[in-house]
Amino acid sequence: MAELELRDVVRDFQVGKQSVRALDGVTFAVREGQFVAVTGPSGSGKSTLLHVLGGLDQPTSGAVLMDGRELGAVTDDELAELRRHRVGFVFQFFNLLPTLSAWENVAVPRLLDGVPLTRVRGDAEALLGRVGLAGRAEHRPAELSGGQLQRVAIARSLVMNPAVILADEPTGNLDSKTGTRILELLAEIAHDDRRAVVMVTHDPAAASWTDRVVELQDGRLIRDEVLDEAGPA
Ligand SMILES: Nc1ncnc2c1ncn2[C@@H]1O[C@H](COP(=O)(O)OP(=O)(O)O)[C@@H](O)[C@H]1O
Ligand SMILES: [Mg+2]
Repeated sequence: MAELELRDVVRDFQVGKQSVRALDGVTFAVREGQFVAVTGPSGSGKSTLLHVLGGLDQPTSGAVLMDGRELGAVTDDELAELRRHRVGFVFQFFNLLPTLSAWENVAVPRLLDGVPLTRVRGDAEALLGRVGLAGRAEHRPAELSGGQLQRVAIARSLVMNPAVILADEPTGNLDSKTGTRILELLAEIAHDDRRAVVMVTHDPAAASWTDRVVELQDGRLIRDEVLDEAGPA
């Protein structure tokens, strides 16, 4: 079964009297274990696509299915639940809380389930180890490098054990060597953990780390290409 599916999705934004069609009939499905790059020029609808996929934004028409459930047909509470438990987000500027330590940042999504912070600590530290940050658990964001901040954010995206990770330009604020390590980590999360990872990028080198490249232009999907199944050598 597809983890996430879009069926003929249109998303219009109303700005004053103008209507902007950010997505123009996109049909697309992602499966577990697949690392997908979403490419295209600025303004082509990449971020809108990611937000709609993750249930952060609703289409004007068309359907979004998560675990086979149509998001337009569930209640707001169910949508919030699905979004929190099935999808993890990673952002270009990390979006970490500056006053919290690395492990506390990783633990934050669990607090909304009423789990006490101290009980999540072990899991958070294990995830920091997983992303190569053992020994940095007590560091605050100001005490970490850009690549390390993105690793903390990736650990946080995994803490609810979601089937899908959605990343919007996760290497956009990193130098190319640091960015490559982040791409390796995301590929591992797709292939070893069998999650679906969808990454927006306008960097062709970043796309080459993935299994599949889809390209948007003016809100339309103009390319959908499966690369080497095994990923890069
Ligand atoms: N909240 C919004 N309100 C109005 N227009 C928007 C909004 N979000 C995106 N758009 C418009 O939709 C189009 C696609 O935007 P976006 O998905 O951010 O593109 P990309 O991420 O590829 O740069 C752009 O023309 C943009 O100006
Ligand atoms: Mg964008």
